[in-house]
Amino acid sequence: MPLPPPGPLARVLVTGASSGIGAAVARALAARGHPTTLVARRGDALADLAEELTRVSGLEAEVHPADLGTDAGLAEVRGLVDDERVVGLVNAAGFGVTGRVADLAGDDGQRAALDGLVRLNVLALHDLTVAAVGALVRRGGRGAVLNVSSITAFQPLPGAASYAASKAFVQSFSEAVHAELSGTDVTLTTVSPGLTRTGFADAADTDGFDRVPDLVVGAAEDVAEAGVAAMARGDRSVTPGLINQLSTLGGRFAPRSLLLPALDAGMRLLDD
Ligand SMILES: NC(=O)c1ccc[n+]([C@@H]2O[C@H](COP(=O)([O-])OP(=O)(O)OC[C@H]3O[C@@H](n4cnc5c(N)ncnc54)[C@H](OP(=O)(O)O)[C@@H]3O)[C@@H](O)[C@H]2O)c1
Repeated sequence: MPLPPPGPLARVLVTGASSGIGAAVARALAARGHPTTLVARRGDALADLAEELTRVSGLEAEVHPADLGTDAGLAEVRGLVDDERVVGLVNAAGFGVTGRVADLAGDDGQRAALDGLVRLNVLALHDLTVAAVGALVRRGGRGAVLNVSSITAFQPLPGAASYAASKAFVQSFSEAVHAELSGTDVTLTTVSPGLTRTGFADAADTDGFDRVPDLVVGAAEDVAEAGVAAMARGDRSVTPGLINQLSTLGGRFAPRSLLLPALDAGMRLLDD
């Protein structure tokens, strides 16, 4: 049980806590008895959540607005991760960009969004994970990190190429570090959700979520419960939901020569 038992000294820092999966993770942690440090750009949404968490759980929730896509914001949050009161880190901040790379390349705004995606989903997550793992192991106590990946981590995805590649990085890096930490009291867990009803679709500027059956779109609360439970146990990885688990099997084992044209056609249909 590498995440230390809940209590006033078992603080967990959550990025992306202003909405969606990150907010649900913060609620799940507070419900278990963990004080939280909440990070995202929207300070007002973080303050509302902190007020709710303190009211419901009686535990302190600190608010730290920061843009993890900037050097200054990332350095500030890296400093918070180093705080010896922090025994856990959840990297939930992230976003997607849909569209074909050749099209996105011709639009300055979309081109900047692609760069920002890599900076947030890959560089910031990597930076904070390295900081947390280093600090937790150095201190010698128990500690845990939870990285939010995606079922898109398990295969390339035409129409969301940079996003799926960013999550492949998260999955590969996190699973490798999980193995490296064997024999320590620190663990690194990934949670790999499928389509989940959050602010994600708006941020990615897609209505694709509305074009798939409700059955395949999960709830942030279910992802958070699965992720926090796996983090508390120190599991390597969890994919919430049977449909998502089956989808990762396809991604891992179907021949790329069949899978990629099928995914390409499916994404074109969603885009139309
Ligand atoms: N929803 C899905 O279908 C789905 C599926 C698989 C994986 N995921 C992953 O789940 C994670 C959470 O996404 P979500 O679905 O919960 O979407 P969401 O509701 O849009 O939440 C994204 C969070 O990231 C934060 N964020 C974005 N840019 C940031 C920046 N530059 N600096 C700091 N924080 C930033 C946002 O807060 P601010 O805007 O306030 O900064 C928000 O709290 C992401 O890593 C996403 O890739 C989502």
